[in-house]
Amino acid sequence: MLLGAATSSHQIEGGTFNDWTLWEREGKAPPVGEACRSWEKMEEDVKLLLKVGANAYRFSIEWSRIEVEEGLFKIENLLRYRRFVDRLLEVGITPIITLHHFTNPVWLYTKGSWLNPDTPKIFSRYVDLISRYFQDVKIWITINEPNVYAYRGYVEGSWPPGERSFFKALRVIRNMLRGHSHAYSAIKANVKGAAVGMAHHLRVFTPLGPLAKLPVMLREYLFNFLPLYSDVHGEIPPPVALMERISSRGDFVGINYYTRDRVKFSLRNPFGIEVAPENAWLSSMGWEVYPEGLYMLLKRYNFSRPVIITENGIATEDHDERIRFIAEHLRWIKRSQNEGVNVRGYLYWSLMDNYEWLEGYSAFFGLFTRDRKPKGDINLKKLWREV
Ligand code: NOJ
Repeated sequence: MLLGAATSSHQIEGGTFNDWTLWEREGKAPPVGEACRSWEKMEEDVKLLLKVGANAYRFSIEWSRIEVEEGLFKIENLLRYRRFVDRLLEVGITPIITLHHFTNPVWLYTKGSWLNPDTPKIFSRYVDLISRYFQDVKIWITINEPNVYAYRGYVEGSWPPGERSFFKALRVIRNMLRGHSHAYSAIKANVKGAAVGMAHHLRVFTPLGPLAKLPVMLREYLFNFLPLYSDVHGEIPPPVALMERISSRGDFVGINYYTRDRVKFSLRNPFGIEVAPENAWLSSMGWEVYPEGLYMLLKRYNFSRPVIITENGIATEDHDERIRFIAEHLRWIKRSQNEGVNVRGYLYWSLMDNYEWLEGYSAFFGLFTRDRKPKGDINLKKLWREV
């Protein structure tokens, strides 16, 4: 079993300059500042991983650091990640590389980011280069949470580029799935034995009343099922495309799981509206903690493939609560394994407190503080044995 933690470049490195930086400068998100300074302190992050008994680490490579202008690659920065991966391998931690975790280089942003039909090819040229340098990395995540990216940036408009168009969101999803497909082929060609997938954000949707079943079906299909199905079966279904073939074969199912939504029917919104949970276990961000939901999703969405929980975490200032949270989720994972689901890994979000997008530094997901202080004892291997 792979056990470890997950992070992403913009959230921990400091000194990143991408489309999210522009968003911060426009006052639409808190400034990231120096984050956790992981760009300089990556090797210290390895020590943290060892302290919590991790044997795997999921992190992202910041595209804007490598392809500084379109087609112009800064190899020196690539080699910085290379040294980091060497270090992980030296100490027996399996590296899991994410290639796109929400942020885009500014030059791509000015070309329309993932609305641009050329972006899938542009992305895969970049991925082709990266994967040549990391032939000893065997687990790859091309794109993180395409559904959340499209929803926040193109439906809700709270993330860059701040659009509100359902149809644009569908185009973004389609281009991301195409980008994933090209990237999948590039990695497979360069890295022998690579397992390539995506990190899919899955939620449990609970209908409040019989009428709410309709909006729940819509959410279930578009948000949970569609991107994951495309990844696993290599075809993109409507309304995103007409069963367009892509090269992905779903080497594994990557699941980011946090919470569930209770959904009420509404005449104004075909997707219904969310109702705040009552008498429920809540994180400090107000998200309902629902460990059984992970089991439900694992049973429903494993597609008879190996599964990696690519993220699962809680924002809380109470570390004992965090340990309880992890233990509960691990217990449900074990139960799903006993019933035949092939779960191969669990990555806690996150290694240390870091930049939580619109919430800035007010959400405490970390096993360690932002300046790498321990919050209390936790050993993932031991916990896994005990649950
Ligand atoms: C999922 C995202 O991948 C990550 O960037 C974010 O910080 C966590 N969820 C927590 O919201």
